[in-house]
Amino acid sequence: MERTLEHDLVERTLTHVRDRTTDLVAAETRYSARDYYDEDRYRHEIDAVFRRRPTIVAHVSQLARPGDFVTETVCGLPLVLNRTSEGTVNAFLNVCRHRGARLVGEAAGGRLTGFLCPYHAWTYGPDGDLRNVPDEAACFPNLDRSAMGLVRVPVEVRHGFVWVTPSTAGGGLDVDGHLGPMGPELASFGFDDYVFYSRESEPRSCNWKLGVEGFLENYHFAVLHKNSTAPIFVHNVSTVDRLGDHVRGVAPKRSMARFLEAEGGERELRQHATILYVIFPSTCLFVERSHASLLQFLPEGPDRSRVVITHLVSSDSLRLRRLWDENIRLFNSAVVEDLDMCDSVQGGIRSGANRELLFGRNEAGCVLFRETLEEVLARDPVN
Ligand code: FES
Ligand SMILES: [Fe+2]
Repeated sequence: MERTLEHDLVERTLTHVRDRTTDLVAAETRYSARDYYDEDRYRHEIDAVFRRRPTIVAHVSQLARPGDFVTETVCGLPLVLNRTSEGTVNAFLNVCRHRGARLVGEAAGGRLTGFLCPYHAWTYGPDGDLRNVPDEAACFPNLDRSAMGLVRVPVEVRHGFVWVTPSTAGGGLDVDGHLGPMGPELASFGFDDYVFYSRESEPRSCNWKLGVEGFLENYHFAVLHKNSTAPIFVHNVSTVDRLGDHVRGVAPKRSMARFLEAEGGERELRQHATILYVIFPSTCLFVERSHASLLQFLPEGPDRSRVVITHLVSSDSLRLRRLWDENIRLFNSAVVEDLDMCDSVQGGIRSGANRELLFGRNEAGCVLFRETLEEVLARDPVN
């Protein structure tokens, strides 16, 4: 992180820790409860937000060698990404051009030299070209192979991550344009040098926004996380900034008070705080001392999401397995508390008890996130 920025964030956060204050927005804010279950609203979010923006689907170390591949489903699109022997990273719809069977069933792996459809054995090369059709001359005399390669999806490797826009509408992909002022900050952490450690995925019964909002305030820390991470963090204290369409939050740990005693010198924010980047729309990137975790909320319906958790560690610390396993166990135990609460809130919203959700001035990150979302949707109304 750039030194002047880091110094500024340390000073702002320390002041809050000392004074028991936190960043505030101007007023309490309300959003309609319908936003969390209405089918039309959901379709609008998918079409105007998700299908037009790059989203992270892998860390670059998951596609490090020729033949490496990962699969993922984003916004209903089954994707397969691979690294070719020429070093190219491709992203395709994981769908056979014959009658639509899924080509690759595994979540990830290596040694992929092409795609063999498990239904009638059409085969494709690693660049998606249709190579072989059994009994082609007799059965498909009019087939134009050049028009029947796998359908490509825009993909870009940037800042250590592999980004895809979940759309086949054409057009390119501009990760830096999407990240705006957050781009240089992400670059400063050197995530290209990190390595993939582990990944988990689970379905949840909540709207994707509840997931994001659950990680954008720490007003709940001492209560919901009393048996997990509450002893580590300062309750209801955070520094929050909007960076273009995205949000940066800093959650100080109790150990940060040591900075108060030791004036000056090198004060590395990551030593005593978690830095959270919410990459719009639904990726939460937690930057820790020497590891990072991604928490992504992939929408699967107005009241359904799939949560994908990916852990990365600095390459020189990969051997510290016991440490990382313990760290991940603690992280996941708190995350389960958050996700269970998201499901609970979804049920509460559907009960009709509240017409609106109320965000306090201290839940500033949630409000900044919702401001962006509402702006984007207003700019691009439903046709
Ligand atoms: S659906 Fe793939 S070969 Fe028939
Ligand atoms: Fe939480």
